[in-house]
Amino acid sequence: MVTGWPNMSNPADDTFFFILGISVALLAMNTGIMLYFVYRYNRKRHPQAEEVKENVSLEVLWTVIPTILVLAIFFVGWKGFQYMRTAPPDAMIIKVTARQWSWTFDYANGKENNVLKVPVKKPVKLLITSADVLHSLYIPAYRIKEDAVPGRQTHLWFLPDQLGSYDLFCTEYCGVGHSAMITKVEVMTQQDFDAWYSGTQETAEEAAETKPSLHAAAKKAGAPVPETGARLFQVKGCVACHTTDGTPKIGPSFKGVFGKQETVIRNGQERQITVDEAFIKQTLLHPETDRVKGFPPIMPSQQGQLTDKEIDEIIAYIKSLK
Ligand code: CUA
Repeated sequence: MVTGWPNMSNPADDTFFFILGISVALLAMNTGIMLYFVYRYNRKRHPQAEEVKENVSLEVLWTVIPTILVLAIFFVGWKGFQYMRTAPPDAMIIKVTARQWSWTFDYANGKENNVLKVPVKKPVKLLITSADVLHSLYIPAYRIKEDAVPGRQTHLWFLPDQLGSYDLFCTEYCGVGHSAMITKVEVMTQQDFDAWYSGTQETAEEAAETKPSLHAAAKKAGAPVPETGARLFQVKGCVACHTTDGTPKIGPSFKGVFGKQETVIRNGQERQITVDEAFIKQTLLHPETDRVKGFPPIMPSQQGQLTDKEIDEIIAYIKSLK
């Protein structure tokens, strides 16, 4: 699927082109008058300067016309704003959580994803919040943008009128992983969406993540399995800073890290530790305690973000990355 711009008439575009039209007309008019004056009042033609006394009709004109223009711009903008703030009552509601540094989309049936999948031609209402700092959700293709504020819910809506895949990203600087806070809106046919939504058919990417598992037995017994950890690694945003192929990114890579000797810094003192379950758990919940040498102290605490079971699943995943 391609990333593109749907051809929709959008109130934001209408307002933009309305203001642009007025600006171009005024620019042309001002430039024209200026050139005419340069010619008309040239020193050769007009050697003696004259004082211009008041001209009531001119003053009325240059007060009334700009007032009308400004009110017209306000009116067009206000109509567009009303449209953008008022979701149709039948809109599908999806909850959005922004966090350092990923997006999570929660659907009414409990489905959770980090790509915003929606059916085509159905209005979608987003209820947005943040788990940590200020972020801002931006979908340029639909001309919408709204802050994600911790402890507060904001909203937006849009009508995905064409199939395709469109960028969705964070547009408010939120820390070192800000530029990684990018995902897609995937507009699917109603049929594909229903199949995905009801879970009868997995998309290719998910099928790859949760392949028929060797750990089915463990899963049944409720033990942590790396597959769930792998999903959390994506959904909870670890992927923004950590790789699984051995390349250090903003933080250390997860590959082969379990059981490794690392130099950590606590209160300015260096010491050696072995990366084990306890260390990973401590780093998830209290990342400030021991920082791995050579990396910036920016790991956000996952306290309240991850359950104990999820922490075990992430540990199982890290262990599996030999
Ligand atoms: Cu989140 Cu920038």
